[in-house]
Amino acid sequence: MNFDDNIDRRGTHCSKWDMMEPLYGLSSDDALPMWVADMDFRPPAAVQEALERMLRHGIYGYFGDERAYREAICWWMANRHGWQLDPATIFTTHGLVNGTALCVDTWTEPGDAVAVMTPVYHAFARVVRAAGREVRELPLVLEDGRYRMDFDGWNDRMTGREKMLILCSPHNPGGRVWTLEELRGVADFAARHNLILVSDEIHQDLVFPGQRHIPMTIAAPEAVERLVMMTASTKTFNIAGAHIGNVIIADEKLKNAFARRHLALGISPNSFGMHMVTAAYSPEGAAWLDGLVRYLDNNRKAFDAGIATIPGLRSMPLEATYLAWVDGSGAGLSSQEFIMRVEKDARIATNHGHTFGLGGDGFLRFNFACSRAMIDEAVTRLKSVFSDLQ
Ligand SMILES: Cc1ncc(COP(=O)(O)O)c(C=O)c1O
Repeated sequence: MNFDDNIDRRGTHCSKWDMMEPLYGLSSDDALPMWVADMDFRPPAAVQEALERMLRHGIYGYFGDERAYREAICWWMANRHGWQLDPATIFTTHGLVNGTALCVDTWTEPGDAVAVMTPVYHAFARVVRAAGREVRELPLVLEDGRYRMDFDGWNDRMTGREKMLILCSPHNPGGRVWTLEELRGVADFAARHNLILVSDEIHQDLVFPGQRHIPMTIAAPEAVERLVMMTASTKTFNIAGAHIGNVIIADEKLKNAFARRHLALGISPNSFGMHMVTAAYSPEGAAWLDGLVRYLDNNRKAFDAGIATIPGLRSMPLEATYLAWVDGSGAGLSSQEFIMRVEKDARIATNHGHTFGLGGDGFLRFNFACSRAMIDEAVTRLKSVFSDLQ
């Protein structure tokens, strides 16, 4: 796979390029889309071939017999993450935002609160609020340029109305791969406050060399009675449009409760997603992923090196994800001015820090899962629009 290919995605109804104009007022003729978390790369050939087989056959009826699909997931988790799981514990949802919403629906009531560690992936708060639940923001502490957890501080923020804690592991944004000690701390915290612990591990495969992601179920097996694992192939293989994800629940009581909501809402998988996931979670997919991570690592280094030349800007050292988290607060500009320079002057669409909750203001999130040529262009533009800071 050549990740350097510049694939023109404009006019294909893709959110990343085609929604830039309506959302940011930026034309895709010359602006750079570095916002929503999808990549400008084709998935592994095995995924394309699975779709081609479907196309050649030309019949798109209901999917049946999930054994190969479930086995592929189990194979991947065992091989890539040392996690042996029972295929009967997997629920298929329409992605993990849907999975999160289903968890909120299953284990909380309107008026309850759901805790999240901010700044964090914005859709958590979006679905929690839309469901009439309160968001309890537990701010991460910025220490030596990276995030750490603050269990003592968080204890004081809890009101007793919290029923659930959503963990993002690895973390988006900020790219932390949580350590065993941190994960065990989260499990203790959830137990202390009697919370259902939902561990969103969608970024589990996008981990840079030298780091190791530990699934929460391995870090804290004793948390099983409150633990809901969520994983997906969609971020890993750039197939988010397939809208498919896994909610994995080992505890019988939790599993039954979730199964009732899943059934009540009539959720069933789409065949395109099932075929794509089965093909992706394979040795071919694994080899492709290793190449991808090497490519992303080089993009990350090039992007960070560029940011490091701009006084006052700081890119958080990432352990995982392809989402650079850039702090502009040292540049002596207001967060609005920081946004304006990047958006209107450099013509780069990013995600605005404040949308990630407490602690996010002043940051911008840049998606660097694009060709290296685009990274170089972004760096050139950023250096130019901030040249007065030199
Ligand atoms: C932590 C996290 N969870 C979930 C999602 C989206 O999941 P899905 O596309 O499966 O709904 C994202 C996308 O960026 C994410 O970062």
